[in-house]
Amino acid sequence: MEGHEGWDEYAPFYDWENARTLGRRDVPFWKSLALHAGGPVLELGCGTGRITVPLGRAGVDLVGVDRSSAMLRRARQRVRRARVDGRVRLIRGDIRQLPFRRGRFALVMAPYGILQSLLRERDLAATLDACFRALEPGGVFGLELVADVPSWKECRRRVSLRGWRRRPGGTHVTLVETVRQNRARRLTTFDQAFIERHGRRRTTRRFAITFRTLSVPQMARRLEKAGFEVSALLGDYRGGPWDPRADVWVILARRP
Ligand SMILES: C[S@@+](CC[C@H](N)C(=O)[O-])C[C@H]1O[C@@H](n2cnc3c(N)ncnc32)[C@H](O)[C@@H]1O
Repeated sequence: MEGHEGWDEYAPFYDWENARTLGRRDVPFWKSLALHAGGPVLELGCGTGRITVPLGRAGVDLVGVDRSSAMLRRARQRVRRARVDGRVRLIRGDIRQLPFRRGRFALVMAPYGILQSLLRERDLAATLDACFRALEPGGVFGLELVADVPSWKECRRRVSLRGWRRRPGGTHVTLVETVRQNRARRLTTFDQAFIERHGRRRTTRRFAITFRTLSVPQMARRLEKAGFEVSALLGDYRGGPWDPRADVWVILARRP
């Protein structure tokens, strides 16, 4: 089992699902951080460009890296459509082995739980080392852990979303989920079935995605072990302080 598995299959549904869940609530936070970085920005796991494109539009000089070609294909279309291809570069790669020269970036951002796709301790350690090297001295590493993943109730084949993709009369989509928690290993697996109905035609696409969630104090310790200085723990997207009940988990750290 690998944390990067499932994303190619998820790609056609990712934006549809996100429009109904997180939406763009976190985008102003990352935009403000990137605009204050004072240099080039690296986004880990840029996906379909949900954050990448608004940052490019705001004038940020940005590189997005992602392992899924299907997610990247969508991001590339968006980048072209928004005409930010002069400022935004998208690269297929793995965040555990970043292909950049040392000290290239002023900010490395890991939004929306990308580090939760690292299912083993050694994958997280390799990624933190790679981010440390990619940052210039004084550069900032910002990450968000999706707080509610470990508290999802286990369930079997529950309908968790349904609605139209594009307008009524287009394709009707139903998401049926099975959720499994492995508390000992801190793993949460979502077995997803996306059922599409278009007129009388019906197709079902199944895949699984797994996340590993460390607590905020645990992640802060991993960052310190990798050489970072933790500068802030945030509990909302306006910069408010984190506490164990916060529903947003953001950590900012600095390469000394
Ligand atoms: C939750 S999505 C985030 C996408 C985007 N940043 C957003 O906020 O909408 C996670 C992305 O990380 C990518 N990913 C997962 N593991 C990866 C790895 N080891 N290396 C590179 N990308 C990875 C997936 O392909 C997926 O596109």
